[in-house]
Amino acid sequence: MSTDAVTMDKIVSLSKRRGFVFPSSEIYGGLGSSYDYGHYGVLLKDNVKARWLEAMVRERDDIVALDSSIILHPDVWKASGHVGGFTDPLVDCRTCKKRFRADKLDEESCGRKPSKHPGETPDCDLTDARHFNLMFQTRVGALEETGVDVYLRPETAQGIFINFKNVAQIARRKPPFGIAQVGKSFRNEITPGNFIFRTLEFEQMEMEFFVPPAEADEWYRYWVDERLKWHLRYGLRESHLRVRPHDADELSHYSSATSDIEYLFPIGWSELEGIANRGDFDLTQHTEAAGTTLEWVDAGSGERFVPYVIEPALGVNRSMLAFMIDAYDEEVVGERERTVLRLHPQLAPVKAAILPLVGKDAAMVEKARSLYKDLRRHYSVEYDDSGAIGRRYRRQDEIGTPYGLTIDEQTLEDDTVTVRDRDSLAQERLPLEGVRAWLGDALQRDWTTPKPA
Ligand code: GAP
Repeated sequence: MSTDAVTMDKIVSLSKRRGFVFPSSEIYGGLGSSYDYGHYGVLLKDNVKARWLEAMVRERDDIVALDSSIILHPDVWKASGHVGGFTDPLVDCRTCKKRFRADKLDEESCGRKPSKHPGETPDCDLTDARHFNLMFQTRVGALEETGVDVYLRPETAQGIFINFKNVAQIARRKPPFGIAQVGKSFRNEITPGNFIFRTLEFEQMEMEFFVPPAEADEWYRYWVDERLKWHLRYGLRESHLRVRPHDADELSHYSSATSDIEYLFPIGWSELEGIANRGDFDLTQHTEAAGTTLEWVDAGSGERFVPYVIEPALGVNRSMLAFMIDAYDEEVVGERERTVLRLHPQLAPVKAAILPLVGKDAAMVEKARSLYKDLRRHYSVEYDDSGAIGRRYRRQDEIGTPYGLTIDEQTLEDDTVTVRDRDSLAQERLPLEGVRAWLGDALQRDWTTPKPA
């Protein structure tokens, strides 16, 4: 029997217990909205990025990769509008001394007990809203007096725009074409996030798709569709995904149309990914500010235009959180409860666990270690011989390992192993020598979550 029993607390607890995510600087009391990623968190995050790069770059002819600097010339952020406009409206409470997002008061708790929304108790004394820039500032240069103020990038996108000419000319690309980038971004978020949903530093996977202006609407719709399919392809349930076009008063300064792909997080429907039609805003701004014309020129016909840009932008950490939430399941099997992460096998941090049934049996251990050594050259696999087999399975279920390979008495007789399927718990026997090929096929198969919609 399976229930959709997931809460953010359960994800936080599993993440800590199994070493996916830890609160950052914990031994110093922690730092709000900052998290560190443990072994399985790193592997899961890497798999999310790999699947994105596969879909956006490797499986296509029209998108190339880029890795630009985190610290860019400070004028980039003036031209992009971030110095002037990348702000949140904040209010302070003179009574409890807490600071809140003025536009999100209904999502915040005031400092009084019993807790209400800010402004709702007679003691609340809120200031007028003031605009607070979200960019982190630092200084480049050895000397305080001669140093230059710079910013940690709040989005990876600008590094792409300022490289438009390099890529278009040197990589000989003609619109429509895209430039994809995965990297860290930084925002001085005041509202404490919900776990890794909103953090001070996070990774983004952004792709800027440069198109002839007349084709912008069509490409915008194409990318909303494509990105929705990607989330479905890697297992998010359709019933927990929706597309929400922004109202005119929500649009960013650069956008003429934006749609959010929203996921039904335990905190409610919230943005998972944004797809924006940025028009020619960014290339035009940088052309004016830098004095370098960023346009596409056809060497043959002389035709020239400033491309419009369609941008799908997704947070790696937020995507990982959605996959974990969607995968989380609890069920009773026989008399026993188990917690299981039903992750898409291609996202799972560990693809198979190799388990000698009796950890102290030298012959089983030898066979198991030999299989492990063979498989680990090709896949992320784990060997575990400590404790009862049931406990070892439960540990692998909690980190989402799709297959358990058990070496038992029969293996010693006929060189076959038992494969246990994480989701169905079905078991089958395979010849040892065929395991590597079997696992390769299994990981390539289409997969849909067995969780009810
Ligand atoms: N270049 C456009 C851009 O940055 P955004 O909607 O501000 O747009 C894109 O960010 C995505 O980055 C979001 O949909 C979300 O997945 C992720 N993201 C944004 N801020 C974040 C934060 N503080 N913590 C974690 N992820 C964040």
